[in-house]
Amino acid sequence: MNLAGKKILLGVSGGIAAYKSCELLRLLQKKGAEVRVCMTEAATQFVAPLTFASLSKCPVYLKNGAVEARPFQHIDFPRWADLYLVVPATANVIGKFVYGIADDPVSLCFMSCTGPRFVAPAMNVAMYNSPAVKRNLETLRSFENTFVMDSPAGELACGEVGKGRLLDPAEIVAYLEATNVVLNESVTLSETKGPVKSCAAQYLEETALQDLPASGVGKHRVLITAGRTEEAIDPVRYISNRSSGKTAVAIAATFLANGFDVSVVAGPMEAEFPGGVRVKKVKSACDMHKAVLEQMKNADVLVHCAAVADYRPKVVSNEKIKDSRSQLILELEPNPNILRDSVAQKRADQVVIGFALETDHFKEHAAEKLKKSGADALLLNAPVALNSGFGFDEVRYTLIRANSRNAQNNAEVEIPEMKMGSKIDLAQEIVDFSLDQLKNA
Ligand SMILES: Cc1cc2nc3c(=O)[nH]c(=O)nc-3n(C[C@H](O)[C@H](O)[C@H](O)COP(=O)(O)O)c2cc1C
Repeated sequence: MNLAGKKILLGVSGGIAAYKSCELLRLLQKKGAEVRVCMTEAATQFVAPLTFASLSKCPVYLKNGAVEARPFQHIDFPRWADLYLVVPATANVIGKFVYGIADDPVSLCFMSCTGPRFVAPAMNVAMYNSPAVKRNLETLRSFENTFVMDSPAGELACGEVGKGRLLDPAEIVAYLEATNVVLNESVTLSETKGPVKSCAAQYLEETALQDLPASGVGKHRVLITAGRTEEAIDPVRYISNRSSGKTAVAIAATFLANGFDVSVVAGPMEAEFPGGVRVKKVKSACDMHKAVLEQMKNADVLVHCAAVADYRPKVVSNEKIKDSRSQLILELEPNPNILRDSVAQKRADQVVIGFALETDHFKEHAAEKLKKSGADALLLNAPVALNSGFGFDEVRYTLIRANSRNAQNNAEVEIPEMKMGSKIDLAQEIVDFSLDQLKNA
């Protein structure tokens, strides 16, 4: 996105990093953007509204606004803006965004904003790792046209070290500049308010991948398979599994936040992708196989996250199979192996990551799958622990790298111990591994 001429509404909530928003405002102005500010009451404890009013040359939208402020700022400001940027976003406002609470200027503007919304969380590491914040961030990432930035590990303002740091103002500007490339170039952000925004989202969803324009030059591209597949038995019945697609959404959002151009081949799933992700919808394993092999030449990284059915009915009945009260035997035949076939077609500069979902003998099965497939890495996950796996936010997992070597037995790959983590943690490990591989490619 070229920031020159863009109208940006900057929402500031009450975190210690609020002072960084002053520098951010100046950087945005230097890029040619016009900025207006809204603040929570808590934010005014950290930075005086007068600072933002002076810098933006416009009254700040406050809960108990100044007399010179306009009466409908909660509607006017978001409508005026090409995009809404919340920096820093506290745990508190993130919770409000997710649950539809709109009792302060920052959350009100979030709710009434119909254009793209960018959120940069910042908080103490313990808050960032709390189950509520993790869950809220994951939900927020699934909102349409909402971009949640990473909060990398580092030294926090409170003196502790860990995740939750606000991106530097320059990094936030870089994120915004990179994101326009992710959105369709033909839809500029100044046009994406209101109905045009949904056109962009619709365009991204409905256009087949092969019809989409090439992504930005020099930008890494990832192709992710997502959701489950449905293998038809007859016109109304199918064989499938319980995959919700949440892991793929977390992976897509994390690649997006790391500046990748993200395309997805998705089977049926409940979770929704954030704006800016190109989605090609498919139903069966054979459809997914075809779409992936067609599209993989455009990708630097392939992540095979979909829960693809291993088998499909050998014969698909054209009519609904009648209930004859007698035994019915379904003959199944194997589906194509998307992971193995994509590895067979992979260029030396491409990275392929497979997924293995195991319920027993985790390590042996995963090591064998990695060896047989020839993938660069395998994400082993096991949804057997209580409250984890299908449909949940936490998962038990480990990433096995093909080029790692076991300290005891040099011929074997090293299989790190499995751990519990959020799907975002898992996604970040995949992104970090991909970046590492691309650097060495
Ligand atoms: C010194 C201090 C620093 C704080 N820093 C943060 C922070 O970085 N992130 C956060 O989520 N909350 C932080 N808080 C807590 C929020 O200020 C508090 O949750 C407040 O209710 C947030 O209000 P708001 O979301 O309406 O701005 C801090 C509180 C204090 C007293």
